[in-house]
Amino acid sequence: MCDLFDKHEHYGFLVDTPAIRALVAETQRLMREVADDAVRVEQLRPAFATLLAADGWLPDAYAQPDCKSGMGGGIGQYALYRARDGSLCLFALVVPPGSRTPVHDHLAWGLVGIYRGRQDETIYERLDDGSDPSRAQLAIKQRQAIGEGEFYALLPPRDDIHYVETTSEMPSISIHLLANDTACVWRHRFEPQTGAVTAFRSGYSNAPCPPDRHG
Ligand SMILES: [Fe+2]
Repeated sequence: MCDLFDKHEHYGFLVDTPAIRALVAETQRLMREVADDAVRVEQLRPAFATLLAADGWLPDAYAQPDCKSGMGGGIGQYALYRARDGSLCLFALVVPPGSRTPVHDHLAWGLVGIYRGRQDETIYERLDDGSDPSRAQLAIKQRQAIGEGEFYALLPPRDDIHYVETTSEMPSISIHLLANDTACVWRHRFEPQTGAVTAFRSGYSNAPCPPDRHG
């Protein structure tokens, strides 16, 4: 599963099903009508839960690990919807059994939920003031186990730094609805032990990022 779908359109509905269209339409309606991020995310919960509870909308090809992962660890990151203006994306993250993401941030509000399998999430709080872009002092704030149909909100800067690891015997598949083009924005990878922070773009397994203008 290493050479995926170069022939496909890379924006809009990369997976075009009624279930995905319904969630994107509801999200865009709330983005127009609700100014407050926390209120909007709260109002998004029913539509997001509906997608997590539905079967048959995620192609098998997007439920597989990716051996060329930008995240490492065979983690697949498959774009399902990407707004061309970078304001919204929906993607599936496939984490093989025993694998974990780097400690990372997201830099956008949204919802993350488990579609298949099970994950442990470890959330960090940042103790320094963020003035040094290459350093961060992190402390574990919370650990939680998340199973199918369960989800949580991201409302940066609160609880925006975490890692997840798969605890099921099958790969976990988490669905992410976030208000940026997550895999293509420059965000951060953290080494809590040393305090090191590095910029990274995870990239999608099934779509390219725009040209790199970083630095
Ligand atoms: Fe994450």
